[in-house]
Amino acid sequence: MQELPNRLMIVSNRLPISIAEQADGTPTIKPASGGLVTALDPILRQARGTWIGWSGTNEADQTVDQLLEHATNSIGYSMHAIHLSQEEQEKFYLGFSNEIIWPLFHDLQSRCNFDPNYWTTYEQVNRKYAETIAQHYRDDTYIWVQDYQLINVACELRQLGIDAHIGFFLHIPFPHIDIFLKLPWREQILNGLLEYDLLGFQTNRDLNNFLICVEALLPDAEIDRAGEYPLILHADRNPTKVGFFPISIDPQEFRTAAHTSNVDILYSQIREAFAGRKIILGVDRLDYTKGIPDRLQAFSALLETYPELQQKISLTQVVVPSREDISEYADLKQTIQQLVSEINGKYTKIGWVPIHYIFRSLPREELLAYYRAAHAALITPLKDGMNLVAKEYAVCGPDDGVLILSEFAGAAMQLSEHSLTVNPYDINGTAQALYNAVTMPRLERIEHISKLRHSINQYDIYWWVDTFLQAANVKRSGTIEQASG
Ligand code: ADP
Ligand code: G6P
Repeated sequence: MQELPNRLMIVSNRLPISIAEQADGTPTIKPASGGLVTALDPILRQARGTWIGWSGTNEADQTVDQLLEHATNSIGYSMHAIHLSQEEQEKFYLGFSNEIIWPLFHDLQSRCNFDPNYWTTYEQVNRKYAETIAQHYRDDTYIWVQDYQLINVACELRQLGIDAHIGFFLHIPFPHIDIFLKLPWREQILNGLLEYDLLGFQTNRDLNNFLICVEALLPDAEIDRAGEYPLILHADRNPTKVGFFPISIDPQEFRTAAHTSNVDILYSQIREAFAGRKIILGVDRLDYTKGIPDRLQAFSALLETYPELQQKISLTQVVVPSREDISEYADLKQTIQQLVSEINGKYTKIGWVPIHYIFRSLPREELLAYYRAAHAALITPLKDGMNLVAKEYAVCGPDDGVLILSEFAGAAMQLSEHSLTVNPYDINGTAQALYNAVTMPRLERIEHISKLRHSINQYDIYWWVDTFLQAANVKRSGTIEQASG
């Protein structure tokens, strides 16, 4: 890996930890969930940098700051918390971020709540992040802002007089123009993005969607495609370089963590509990983008179409609670629970339950043990920026495991050749892919998974950070070399 800048500052909506209460009411720290944290945590540990984000708690709280200070010693980088009021959480986090941008950018505009009151709070909270950055920033700091909650941060930093080079990475997809046009704040969002010096997307498709929107909606912007990365030129501001950088994991670290003696024990327990049966695994945050109900229906269709598989196959579906204060998420939880009980009610036989449903954040060792034990992973989002679970399973799963992957996950751009790709809306097609997975000859399975591993080893999280920082022309001192297109 290239040398990281002396002072790397990651700014994301959430810190990589969340504050939870122990049984006796005292606050404690636990890791936050989601792909963003999984990917960036090892980078910041190495850089010993700074992470700015929300602690997930309600108000300014002395104990949070003390806990974070204490955690710095064990984590190896410093963290500074943003405090959000109840209203900010409602209008900025739940509202603009997760009831507008999140569903729209995942092509699910019917789930959007375009409440006109949300935008001002989105701007205000982005300003709050910018003010905290300004407090902790020095000339040799590279500021790298993450994800859709913080699109306006560069704009706010410019207004505070900070002229530093700032990078931005969008972890979620960027939609097609026909969908983006529906956003009432479409010009503000594009202009906010163009305040960054470097913009990173997950896939070529996201990048192209963005460029098409810029061309159509910002007539003063010009796109120069002569260099390695396109440059967006604009009379009133610095050029913005754009590229796609598929995010990844640290495969070495995952492999090592998946083979400790504790994980060995858990793995044996799982395999013993499911002896003689194929284990199919699904792992997702509770989110309507993940296609969980369609997946459950596909599993049910498999049992219906191929009754000989009954009692020989089980689906373990892990769902991590997420954003339950939004009604769409609370409703989804109900839908999933109902489907699981209907399917189990219909097919369960003595000693065999078709779907094992786990609704909680599993300890990492247990998650890794499930990866190792699963004969196939069924990863079928309706749309996903990348989907790191796919990469984690490919690396930690058995040497003859099978990855079944939605063609609408960013990961499919890299992994489709050696996985069974499915259209997640096609219930029977997904059921057929499951059948193909459990009947695929062993040698073929081994070959595919080894090719997947090879690709993930090559394009790991360090490749991602290197490529992004090289595109940003960041030197170790944190200063920026003269931009070359
Ligand atoms: P998203 O970012 O939308 O949540 P990803 O698949 O990219 O989706 O990332 C999910 C991350 O959350 C993965 O790194 C995975 O290891 C982690 N994770 C998933 N399930 C659990 C769980 N039950 N407990 C802890 N971490 C989990
Ligand atoms: C996805 C998003 C992240 C987000 C994570 C967890 O990975 O890209 O920005 O942090 O989900 O969601 P939450 O709303 O709990 O932060």
